[in-house]
This record gives sequence, C-alpha cells and structure tokens, in this order.
Amino acid sequence: MKKNYFFKFILFLIPFSAFILMSNAGGRDDGRTGSPGDGNASCAACHTGGTSGTSVAITTNIPAGGYQTSTEYDITVTTTSSASRHGFQLTAEKTSDNGKVGSFTAGANTRVTGDRITHSNAAQNTWTFKWTSPATDVGNVKFYAASVAANGNGGADSGDKTVTTSTSDFSVLGIAKEKQLDFALYPNPSSNNINIQLPTGVSKAEVNLFDISGRLVKSATVTSSSQLVDVKDLSSGVYVLKIQSEGKVGAKQFIKE
Ligand code: HEC
Repeated sequence: MKKNYFFKFILFLIPFSAFILMSNAGGRDDGRTGSPGDGNASCAACHTGGTSGTSVAITTNIPAGGYQTSTEYDITVTTTSSASRHGFQLTAEKTSDNGKVGSFTAGANTRVTGDRITHSNAAQNTWTFKWTSPATDVGNVKFYAASVAANGNGGADSGDKTVTTSTSDFSVLGIAKEKQLDFALYPNPSSNNINIQLPTGVSKAEVNLFDISGRLVKSATVTSSSQLVDVKDLSSGVYVLKIQSEGKVGAKQFIKE
C-alpha cells in the first residue's frame, strides 16, 4: 500500500516538474519576438502593462557594411527599466521572406529554443550570446527582440511591461566564390586618393563606399582596369568599399586617414 502512494506521488511530480521547467522564469519557447515571421506576436499578449519607462536594445559586432557567411558574431540584448525581473526572446529573419536565418549559441543565462534564443534566468537585464550567419548568401538579415520587465509577483499581468525592437538590415559581405569580384585597393589607409585595380578581363565597375553605419557616402564608376577614386572629402574613419561588375561583387574595408 505504501508503495502505491509513493508511485502516485511520482506520477504527480512528473507534470508538476514539467510545469516548473516550462515556466517563464526560464524563458519562452513559443514565437514571441514581435517579428513578422512570428506573426508579430509578442510577450504583450500576457504581460499587458504597456511600455512606459522600459526600453530594449540589440547590439552586435556585425559590421554595418554586412556579415560574412558562416561567421560567428556576438549579440547583446539589454533591457532598461526599474523592474526586478527581466526576460527576452530574439530571432533572426531574412528581409526577403521573413524566414529564419542562421543559428544561435547560448551564452550566460540564455538558452536556444529552435530558431530563437531566450533568457534562462530573469534576475538580470542584459544577455550576450552568439549568432552564426548562414553558409550562403541569403540576402539581408534583420534581428527582432521582445523583452519583459516583470514585477516578479508570480503572474503575467498589467504590472509587467513589454517592449520590442529590431535592428536595421544587415547585408551580406561574404559572397559565394563564383560571384566574387577580386580587386586591389591601395594605398590603404589613404588620405587623398585610392587606386582601384580590377582583375584581368574586367574593365568597368560600379563602386560604392559606405560608412560604418552603412550609409552610402560615395559612388563612382571605374572605367579602366586601374583607376583613382578621390576620397579627400571623406571624414577620417573606417569605410566599406563595394564594387560590382557583370553580376559579380566584391568588398573591402578601407581606412580614411
Ligand atoms: C501566454 C502567456 C505569456 C506570454 C506570451 C509570455 N509570458 Fe512571461 N510569464 C507568464 C506567466 C504566467 C508568468 C508568471 C509565472 C512564471 O514565472 O512562469 C510569466 C513570468 C515571466 C517573467 C518573470 C519570471 C520571474 O522569475 O519572475 C519573465 C521575465 C517573463 N515572463 C518573460 C517573458 C518574455 C520575455 C516573454 C516574451 C518573449 C513572455 N514572458 C511571454 C506568461 C506569459
């Protein structure tokens, strides 16, 4: 008889412990990042206190000029509020069709759940983890995150704030071999002119120069295999020079002195 009670107790423990494991203190498994690919669903369905006094930001070391294929990058989600408990969920989507892209690797107090990453501990407001870019050129990528600032009263209610954010688009810098346009750029760094030398057989190319925040600052057409581009008027800093010719593309970082 005693044994039977024990058995029943164990049976009772199974759903109970499953509930504990699935509880929100350890993050969210269903798509709630607020992204188009997640049907714009966010944590606000349950944590209904609005957004006031709360903000969330996504920061990353992906260069503004674009990501390289099959490369691991750092991503940090930081929520600012006066609340005691915080959580988040983040995903990456292709701009073209909002399909999921790349893969996540958990960092401290985060865990991966399918195509998304979420908090595994609500006692902090900033989380850092890794994202590995796709192996092939899938076009522009955008990150979406939703975050909750919870009052920790054990429920999801109007005492909790929900905020969402997204990054701007990250384009692809790494390009499949057959579409790569190799070119030389020198001197680098430079203060006046840069010389762009096209590979043999290519005599014309479009040149676009982007600043660190991805803004187009200069365009030029190179019409001979080796040509100077004037960079005197640019402020000093790091730029990405992209070059295009007959369906092939190339990119190089360039420093203006
Ligand atoms: C379907 C309803 C629902 C949705 C959607 C939801 N939560 Fe919750 N959340 C709850 C409930 C219920 C609780 C309280 C019980 C608990 O902690 O599990 C809670 C609690 C929390 C807590 C407090 C945990 C603690 O330790 O005090 C955090 C943080 C949290 N949720 C984050 C999120 C985030 C981030 C999202 C969106 C990505 C989200 N929740 C979406 C229902 C929801």
